Parts: sequence; structure tokens; C-alpha cells
Amino acid sequence: MISYNEKERIFHIYNKKISYYMHVNFEGAVETLYFGKFLPSLYNIDAIRKGDIDNNSSQYFDMNLEREFTHPDIYKEGIARNEISSHGGRDKRGAPIIISQKNGAFETDFRYFSFEIVEGLPVYSDIPYVRENGVKATTLRICYKERRRAVLVYENITILEDKDIVIKNFEIVNKSNEIVPITRAFSMQLDLPDNQYKIHHFPGRWAYEREHRVNDLVEGVQEVFSNKGRSSHEENPFVFLSENEATNTYGRVIGFNLVYSGNFMFRTYTDMLMGCHILYGIGDEDFRWMLNPKETFITPQAVIAYSEEGIDKMSQEFHSLIKEHIVPPEIDKIKKPLLFNSWEGCTFTFNTESMLSYVDDSTKIGSELFVLDDGWFGKRDDDTSGLGDWVLNENKINLQAVIDRCHKHGMKFGIWFEPEMVNPDSDLYRDYPQYALGDRKLPLTPHRHQFLLDFANQEVVDNIFHQMELILDKYPIDYIKWDNNRVTNEHFSNALDAEHQGEVYHRLMLGYYNLISRLRKKYPNIFFEGCASGGGRFDLGTLFYCPQIWASDETDPICRMFIQYNTSIGYPLSTIGSHVSNSKMTCYKTKAILALFGTYGLEMNPNVLTESEIEELCEIGDVYRKYHQEVIGNGTLYHLKSPQETNAMCMQSVSKDKSKSIVIYMNKFKEQQQYRFIKLKGLDEEKLYRNSLDNEVFSGAYYQEVGLNLSRKVLYEFDCELIILEEVGGEI
Ligand code: DGJ
Repeated sequence: MISYNEKERIFHIYNKKISYYMHVNFEGAVETLYFGKFLPSLYNIDAIRKGDIDNNSSQYFDMNLEREFTHPDIYKEGIARNEISSHGGRDKRGAPIIISQKNGAFETDFRYFSFEIVEGLPVYSDIPYVRENGVKATTLRICYKERRRAVLVYENITILEDKDIVIKNFEIVNKSNEIVPITRAFSMQLDLPDNQYKIHHFPGRWAYEREHRVNDLVEGVQEVFSNKGRSSHEENPFVFLSENEATNTYGRVIGFNLVYSGNFMFRTYTDMLMGCHILYGIGDEDFRWMLNPKETFITPQAVIAYSEEGIDKMSQEFHSLIKEHIVPPEIDKIKKPLLFNSWEGCTFTFNTESMLSYVDDSTKIGSELFVLDDGWFGKRDDDTSGLGDWVLNENKINLQAVIDRCHKHGMKFGIWFEPEMVNPDSDLYRDYPQYALGDRKLPLTPHRHQFLLDFANQEVVDNIFHQMELILDKYPIDYIKWDNNRVTNEHFSNALDAEHQGEVYHRLMLGYYNLISRLRKKYPNIFFEGCASGGGRFDLGTLFYCPQIWASDETDPICRMFIQYNTSIGYPLSTIGSHVSNSKMTCYKTKAILALFGTYGLEMNPNVLTESEIEELCEIGDVYRKYHQEVIGNGTLYHLKSPQETNAMCMQSVSKDKSKSIVIYMNKFKEQQQYRFIKLKGLDEEKLYRNSLDNEVFSGAYYQEVGLNLSRKVLYEFDCELIILEEVGGEI
């Protein structure tokens, strides 16, 4: 999995499918030689290295001898592909790490020092990480030393035995006796020898998260980033490059994601030789970490997936990584209960009686977990007050009675929190105004009438932990929806001195991770779902604690089909929080089929459903109970028709043993009859399957080569088909 050729100073990181080669040159730089499909050997590495240069090595001026020299190696700094570019010298493509020198200079130059190969993956206590989870993993740890300061950098590159994925990050260690300011601490650099790629990213806005945008990788710099203090609605940390000719099933694709929930920066730079220099990590806007002597700064892990077989193969690699190595492992073992959420049905307007009637009526549509959303605490009848006061509003709701009623029906009970926020109209703010983020000498920017709590201050995190403890110790709560409804504007902490204000954005994330991991430790049976005004924090950092995330506040199924389809390119369906809602668009059955291609849940006023609506919901509820976990939750997903590119959205999920498959086909605009053969994927060619569309039996090969036949039918606006295929015995 990792070998070192001592004579040629070459590392080879590999599994059966991929290879990553690098070379330690005589200048002490680590050159990236190759990243791609498995290659047993690189033969003559100078041929590759020379390809990068115009045959001259770099020159340097020796200050002692007062003469110019040429490096003996063919290495040309600033042009050769590197694992860590230097900063402030010849290399102008962008360094992944920048520190300040003692004299204030910015020059940063890390040179190779040593290496070790270790079994397993790094494990971190303060930040989320890729879990080993019983799979063979090997990590190359290259140690670099800064040329002027006593600062070391460890570059970790991990390869998993069974995935076309490498995981990279840096650890920066201050070996000196002085504080070292770090002004950039990205997680990785990857230099590719060409730029013939398109860049795919997922910008959006509230209620329209993750559009799939594709741009040419142009010359110069392109950045995909968030400076909102969270991974954001506006961009997502999942980004990928596809070879110009690549499709869903063909061509070279390289995907990137970051195990982090805060500001990020994905930056490509196409240099004069048309190589592509990629940097990825924590956003460096207003970032300055004062690293104390003997301390280490750990950058979040970047995950890189490589596919030779198009976009879907990359998606599947990310999906299995997330399911097996990111979300809490115990989640796999439980069958997720069918969730009912109160929010869209009544928002803040409820009392004990109305909530009890919600509980009762939700049972008619199959609810197994009843979630009371916002409005149960403090003074909270609208969004202008109450955040920060996690005390039950007894005048409004008898929580115990609601929980008892849930239990009487055999249902679990869940509740909503927004732990990182405070309303100025709250007891917490009145008592501790300094707990709000921002310099109070100036006007602060409210958003949804609320401020961010200063989670860079451990005292604030502890305060919220203790308040939540009181609720969680008193009431039997099985589920928490963890919301976060504003971006970070004034990123000033009243608890930090001037020197440390550059740490605020990252410290807010450390506070978030600290609180949620303490709660998960103390209440291991509580299931957490992430949320941030819908999908404003849909990222691998949050998924480490919350196995699912509410994908969007947009529950109109027509908009949702784009959001869910696009989100599922980077994230498995089992993580994409999706509910059947009140929305007036389409019938309940269509909304339910769509929600099935996500986590599936219900969110409406259950008191006003008609008999036929209840019937539709029960029908799909049965499908959920019978098939969801095996076929959708743990299945392999194929994207068959993109709603962005065609008049329909079509996805197919296949159970691991290939005995069952479920297809969704959702039409956009009315379409007259025409041939419509949907060629399926991932089935066993030899097996026979009965399909629920026409009840016929065909072989897997037939479905894949001829296709499911949806032809000759007029499809009306937003018509939606759910087709279930089940293996039947017998010979072809
Ligand atoms: C935003 C969430 O996305 C909604 O689902 C709901 O929980 C509200 N917040 C409650 O304030």
C-alpha cells in the first residue's frame, strides 16, 4: 500500500486501483510525480520531471560566497510539481502553509526532513476525521522542517485498501520557544500536469442549495469558497474536476471534499505551463493562528476521490466513504424510525392540546419518531426572542405529556435546539451580553433577529452544554435536530485579545465540535440531525456527528428534485434529510416518492389530511419500511437522468446483494408519447427481476441493455413513477 524506493527516493502510495507517486529531490522538496490509475512503476522519473521544466535548474545566490550558483538537480522551483510549495521565493503559485518569521518576514519554506509509514489513519480529539472503522489503511507521514524557524510540518497521506480515495492533511508543530503566527493553514496541495478539466461546484442560496455548476478550468485562479463562518448555502465543500470529455459513466474525474464545517477555500491555479495547482483547506480570509510553543495546529482532512469511469463512480466512492468512515458507525446498525416533524404544520403556533393531536394523527401516516421543532423553550412564539434560554416554556407546552403520548403510541420523541445562537431578547443575553460574538462598541448585524454566541469562548460552550444537560437529563429524548440559522458577520470575540482575533472563525468550529461531541458522549443513544436554515451546513464535518442533515427548507418537490439529485452527487441518500411536506405542488404520493430518495420523513399538519392523502402516504410508508434501509440507505446509487440537462430526473438505487432495486422517474414538463427506455445499472446480468411498472420479468442484462420501458405514454407535468425491481427465482 505504501513503498519507498530508497535509491531513487520515490514513495509509491497505492492500492489495486490508484497510484500516487512522489520523489524527494536533492533540494529537499517533495515533487509530485503522478496521481491516477494504478501504475506498477514509473520507470524513468526524470522523463516526468523534465516534462515540467525548460531544462534549466533553478539558480540561487549564495550570500556568503557572494556568487550565483545553479542547483545540481534538474529541479526547477516554482515550475516543478510539489507537495508543498514555498512562499515568498521563486514559487508564485500559492503555498498551502504560510507562517511569519521572527523578524516579521513572510517567507516560508518547508524542506523534507524524514518520513514514516504507519498503519491506520490519524485520530483527532478536537476536530472530525475519517474513521478507520476496521478497514486496512496506511498513512505516509512526511516530516518537513522550515528553513528558518523551528517549525515542523507533517504531511499525512492515507490510502484505504478498498477505496479509490486518498486522505491528506498537514499538522504544523511549533518546536520553538516563541509563538509562531500561521497566516495560512490549508490541508493539501495537489499539482496536476494538465488543465484539461471542467470544474464542478455547487453554489446556491437559502431554499435553493447546491445547483450543479460546471465551468471550464480557465487560466489563472479560480476559487470556490465560503467566508460565511459555515460551509454555507452559497457554495459547498464538495468540488470535482472532470476531464473535458467525461460523462457520468466515462472519463477521468477527481473529487475533493473537506472534513470541516466552517470557512473553506478550494483554489485552482493554472500556471504558464498549463499545469493545475490545487490548494484546499480552511479559508484564509482573516485567518491568523498564534501557535504556542510546543503546540500543534491540525488542519482538517481533505478527501480526494479518483475515478477512471466517470462521475458516478466518483460519487459512489464518496458515498461509501461517508457511510463507512464518516458518519457515526453505530448508526448503520439501527433501522431509522420514520420521522414526523412539527415545523411546517404549525411553526411556532402550538400548545399542549394541539401537539397531542399532532402526535395522535401522525400515527395514521406511520410516524415512528415525533419531533417537536422550534418554539418549546424560553419566550419563543416567533423568531424575535428566546434563543439562548433552553428552559421549557411550561405555559405553552407540557413536554412530559407529549412524550408520554408518543410512548403510548410506541413512538420515539425528538426535539429542536439551536445551540450556537442567542436573541438579544433573552435572559442569556441580558445576563451575559459579552457572550454574543462581535465588538459591542459598534452596531452588530442581526440576522433572523439573532446573534451568534461566542463559541470561541469555552465558558459560553459550557453554559449551553449545562443548559442542554438539564433538559436531556429530565426528559427521555431520542433525537435532536441541531439548527444554525445565521451566517457569521462580526467575527470578533470579546474573550480573546487583539493578537488572537484571527483565530475566531476556526475557534467557532472547535466550539461547535466540542459541544456536539460532549453531548454525543454523554447521550450516546441520541440521534443528531444537522440543519442550518435548511442545507447551509451540509458537509463532512457535520456528518461526523450527525448521520443526516436537513437538505433544504425548500420542500416544494419540483425545486427539491434538483436539490436532492445534485446533493446526491457528493453525499449518500441516507444523509439527505427529505420530508413529505405541506407544499401544494403535486399530490402527496409524488412528494413521498421523492422524499424516499433521501432519508424520508413527514412534515405537515396531520389534522387536515384527507382519507385519500392518508392512503397515499401509507402506501409509500410501507415501501419505506420494507425497502428503504436495504435498497436506498445502504444501496449503490446511479444517476440516470439529470433534471438540469433533461426533461426528467431519474435515479436508481441497487441493494448491495443486487437482489432489489428502486427507480424514481420524475417528469418536468408535459411530454407527448415517445420512446423512453431507461437503461438501468448495477444489476446482476444473470438474475431475473420482476418490475412493478408492468409486472414483467426480465434479466438484469435486458434492463441494462434494452431498458425499463416507459415509452408511448404521455407524461404530464411532474408525473412521477416509483419502480421496484425484485429478483425472482428461475432460469433465463
Ligand atoms: C430552519 C430549519 O431549516 C427549519 O426546518 C426549522 O427548524 C426552522 N429553522 C425553525 O426555526
